[in-house]
Amino acid sequence: MSNFENPVLSVKNLRKQFGDGCSKCRNLSEAKLSKNYCPHCGTVYACRDISFDLYEGEILGIVGESGSGKSTMMQCLYFDKEVSSGKAFMKAYENGEKNIFLESTQRKRYIKNNIFGKVYQNPMLGLKMDFSCIGNIAEKLIGAGERNVSKMEERAKELLECVNIPTFRMEEEPKNFSGGMKQRVQIAKALSNNPPVLLLDEVTTGLDLSVQANVLDLIKKLQREFKISMVVVSHDLGVIRMLADRTLVMLNGEVVEEGLTDQILEDPQHEYTQQLVYSLL
Ligand SMILES: Nc1ncnc2c1ncn2[C@@H]1O[C@H](COP(=O)(O)OP(=O)(O)OP(=O)(O)O)[C@@H](O)[C@H]1O
Ligand SMILES: [Mg+2]
Ligand SMILES: [Zn+2]
Repeated sequence: MSNFENPVLSVKNLRKQFGDGCSKCRNLSEAKLSKNYCPHCGTVYACRDISFDLYEGEILGIVGESGSGKSTMMQCLYFDKEVSSGKAFMKAYENGEKNIFLESTQRKRYIKNNIFGKVYQNPMLGLKMDFSCIGNIAEKLIGAGERNVSKMEERAKELLECVNIPTFRMEEEPKNFSGGMKQRVQIAKALSNNPPVLLLDEVTTGLDLSVQANVLDLIKKLQREFKISMVVVSHDLGVIRMLADRTLVMLNGEVVEEGLTDQILEDPQHEYTQQLVYSLL
């Protein structure tokens, strides 16, 4: 890891709620929520005051039970959902001086196309199933302003090779592919315009263990070879253990523990983390 002074992504006090809140829950510090929602008005506090930094070349793991707010946090970062409040700064965007959440729709699209890559659990969300693999990558490159067809083809082939899609299948539509192959195409697409930050949400969930291992190896390889910084979300501490340098543990929309992954595994502090770690043994 390098450059601890200058994070590639810095998230400050991110909040996301579904619902307007009521007099009983608006003052969150005193509110009696049931897990993450207010029993009086039903408002869901999906992300409460989340802050973290992501450093160059680092994989940051985010682990937590179902409903703890992991995907909501990632959707907010990728502008798929609007934050309720909070800030995020990116080194590759305006030198980290602008809160990306306050940018215009057009600038947000630029950030999505050029600075972030995102890989979803469901490949249907990241891929056009009726485009060829090469076509999928070209689509992303066009989004980032590329117009030269032969250049795009060359780049697509290089990327698909990197994720081990055999050359003779590159013209095929990914809908015919196995789950692991679809994820590898999705990763290739997300990488196509060299984003400095890659967001991965449960990308191996639901895959067979051997296929999962194969995708995890690919992610590690990408970190080693291209020094891409990544946020990796999983409810599976085993996945986080394999990938993440540092880890945040989320529970009911809050970060309850953070630190070096090895340290968290060796000496978990929060009761929930202890449960997670012991269930892994
Ligand atoms: N559009 C919505 N309206 C109301 N509540 C929502 C909405 N989207 C998400 N939530 C709630 O926000 C909370 C966080 O959901 P989220 O999908 O972020 O959890 P997660 O940690 O990704 O869970 P999983 O491990 O199951 O993917 C949940 O309580 C969920 O029900
Ligand atoms: Mg999720
Ligand atoms: Zn309420």
